[in-house]
Amino acid sequence: MSLPDPRPDCPLCPRLKAFRDDWRAREPGWFNAPVPSFGDPDAELLVVGLAPGVRGANRTGRPFTGDFAGELLYSSLIEFGFATGRFDARIDDGLTLVGAAITNAVRCVPPENKPTPEEINTCRPWLIDTIKALPRLKAILALGKIAHDQTLRTLGFPMSRFKFVHGAIHTVADGLTLHDTYHSSRYNANTGRLTPAMFRDVFTGLAHRLGR
Ligand code: URA
Repeated sequence: MSLPDPRPDCPLCPRLKAFRDDWRAREPGWFNAPVPSFGDPDAELLVVGLAPGVRGANRTGRPFTGDFAGELLYSSLIEFGFATGRFDARIDDGLTLVGAAITNAVRCVPPENKPTPEEINTCRPWLIDTIKALPRLKAILALGKIAHDQTLRTLGFPMSRFKFVHGAIHTVADGLTLHDTYHSSRYNANTGRLTPAMFRDVFTGLAHRLGR
């Protein structure tokens, strides 16, 4: 069974469609479409990112694959037993997620990595359907504030209900926790906002919660 995804020619966000059409013309060999979720339909853990990177997931077609943001994420998933195989930043690297899935708050690549509030709202139904399609879900890892806010709205909370704080674990429903981390972007790594040790602590909390 696969998780719910928008169709490759999703027309709902005119700015994102125009950006996608530009990249289709410039790089016809790239994926250049809404990036589907990746992972295990029996996932207990759902990782929610921001949006595909233009030369990462937008090029390869798999979330967090092909640019810096995936390096720390996939190595942590492997280290904590949420993935097996080797991460080689290509969709045919054979990596398999185990009890985990990865999706994005916005499925299409946005110019400058910045989706507008309207685009975030427009893309929310896929996160709603993705969460509904995961019957064993126990924890959501939000990479950054946009992912955190999108998850809260998806679950029907106002954004003010749970504040985004790196390292926080919010109980958002019976049996469902939301874990916050700064995004694993190159910018956050270069500025020291997110260190590997900080990310590891977040994964330690997830592993504890999920009995890994
Ligand atoms: N790649 C993704 O798929 N999502 C992000 O948030 C960053 C890079």
